[in-house]
Amino acid sequence: MNAQAQAAAPESYAAPQEFIAKAHVDAARYEEMYAASIADPDAFWGEHGLRLDWIKPYSRVKNTDFTFGQVSIKWFEDGTLNVAQNCVDRHLETRGDQTAIIFEPDDPNAPAQHITYRQLHDKVCRMANVLRSQGVTRGDRVVIYLPMIPEAAYAMLACARIGAIHSIVFAGFSPDALANRINDSAAKVVITADSAPRGGRKTALKSNTDAALLHCSDRVRCLVVKHTGDQTTWVDGRDVDVKALMDHAAPDCPAEEMNAEDPLFVLYTSGSTGKPKGVVHSSGGYLAYAAMTHQYTFDYHDGDIFWCTADVGWVTGHSYIIYGPLANGATTLMFEGVPTYPDAGRFWAVCEKHKVTQFYTAPTAIRALMGQGNGFVEKHDLSSLRLLGSVGEPINPEAWNWYNEVVGKGRCPIVDTWWQTETGGHLITPLPGAIPAKPGSATKPFFGVKPVVLEAESGKLIETPEAEGVLCIADSWPGQMRTVWGDHDRFQETYFQQYKGYYFSGDGCRRDADGYYWITGRVDDVINVSGHRMGTAEVESALVAHAQVAEAAVVGYPHDIKGQGIYAYVTLMNGVEPTDALRKELEAWVRTEIGPIAKPDLIQWAPGLPKTRSGKIMRRILRKIAENDYGALGDISTLADPSVVEDLIENRMNRG
Ligand code: PRX
Repeated sequence: MNAQAQAAAPESYAAPQEFIAKAHVDAARYEEMYAASIADPDAFWGEHGLRLDWIKPYSRVKNTDFTFGQVSIKWFEDGTLNVAQNCVDRHLETRGDQTAIIFEPDDPNAPAQHITYRQLHDKVCRMANVLRSQGVTRGDRVVIYLPMIPEAAYAMLACARIGAIHSIVFAGFSPDALANRINDSAAKVVITADSAPRGGRKTALKSNTDAALLHCSDRVRCLVVKHTGDQTTWVDGRDVDVKALMDHAAPDCPAEEMNAEDPLFVLYTSGSTGKPKGVVHSSGGYLAYAAMTHQYTFDYHDGDIFWCTADVGWVTGHSYIIYGPLANGATTLMFEGVPTYPDAGRFWAVCEKHKVTQFYTAPTAIRALMGQGNGFVEKHDLSSLRLLGSVGEPINPEAWNWYNEVVGKGRCPIVDTWWQTETGGHLITPLPGAIPAKPGSATKPFFGVKPVVLEAESGKLIETPEAEGVLCIADSWPGQMRTVWGDHDRFQETYFQQYKGYYFSGDGCRRDADGYYWITGRVDDVINVSGHRMGTAEVESALVAHAQVAEAAVVGYPHDIKGQGIYAYVTLMNGVEPTDALRKELEAWVRTEIGPIAKPDLIQWAPGLPKTRSGKIMRRILRKIAENDYGALGDISTLADPSVVEDLIENRMNRG
């Protein structure tokens, strides 16, 4: 935007009057409900927990403790329910013939599927019976490594139905990453497909799974969805044809009575140190929170067609493709493909075709599509759209304005939702009828959420309205993760140790005079690549596992489309020549060790890395060099060998 346009742009954007008139919550109601939720969380959540069907109603609502050393989070702890029953069965009487899931395949010429709640019930029960027949019982772990196909939803809900705990591994992850997750969760079964078509190309999921299972216990069963019909190898006694078994399975399966605190799923996510952590979510609190945020943030009403473009391999897909919408009896769209296939108009073609009313995507996709010009949007009728959403990273004002003007035609409120794998659902987000948006701000807390801004170094609470520091949350909400799978100490150390008494998000933020929150990005060694979280330590350990690499340090740098790119400084073993061929080999190496999303964008050969005298790598300096910000290197006198910095600056990779 030029300076004149900027000056003319309003500071905040309220939804149109006719939107506000029909919205669940307007400004006054938000204030009233928010105040009530903070004043008496037990009363507030006691009431809103009733949006679910309970087998045995809860008598205790909130029982949570953020004290380091004794962190414990429980909601609705004496209630029992079944999540699949809440997402499917309870809708059968009133909306059995309503579409629950619209499946839009990768190939635009292949027919879409409309799966009703009744059909969903049938499929989920059959899949549940197949899992049972394979020896899966309550509490067992099931790893799901599937494309974005209806079977992924059936598998999740089938697990929930029998009380098994699912752990979805994004289909873009490598065999090694899959094996690590199967082993860490000690899964009994992995559910995969022959292959995953995306953007006209295919990923060989079954052969990836075969490779992963070489590193797992012989007892792990492999359930294969024959999706594309591609030829795969078959291990008799281990591999099972899911669809064939489903055809013969009983169409009814009793739902297990689960405690509210029984884990529903484990989802692995990257942190600043070590291996990815298994984030554990509960059954009752998680579902109530996912459903409530889905309804209020997206102002969901009966009859709406809701589309979240995420993959079910990420938390966004869990909460806002499957659990939130289905608990609300919504129609949710599942898209197998990519935004740019067969062309950059695919999202808009799908919105037009299925008359989507709420559309929820990531800034990286918006930026990529914005770069393709307005023509791809303008040739589609987007008049069904009522609301737009954004998630995964801060949205830059340019992308926000394009989304608002070109996609939303200035009449669709935009909800910029800030949350995390750990939070289960939105924590800071506008409610569209209540809170005017400011481009780039996630605005205000959801009901029951108490954000605080602390001074990063001292941990002191900043009490002035305007504040800048690290973002913490002062009290629990029902969708909060309960623990790290198999490692409660790590849970406490990661989130509750640094700032005592608070949940530490890992993000920095600013609060303005209106009480709006502006997320400024991660303050730890996590980078955000196209809205996907990547631990720099993970990429580093993949690089150093290569025989010719002595040492590696990875940082993020600003990237026009991805938000952040992966910048790797690599020191080779003595005598190894840095060549282009080796650079390509290392890129391919990281792809196989972790997956394509972890491939470094830039690799710089570094004869030495800046280290303190005690041997600690000074990432601050590496970040500045990667950002081309040499004026702000800070004090380098504590370095063991300051001359390495000059070398790194001189040989900084050109940003291609
Ligand atoms: O840095 C924040 C960023 O994404 C991180 C969480 O990543 P993940 O667990 O993969 O979940 C992504 C989808 C919920 C956060 O710590 N982030 C997420 N949403 C936003 C955001 N940053 C700014 N604005 C957002 N709306």
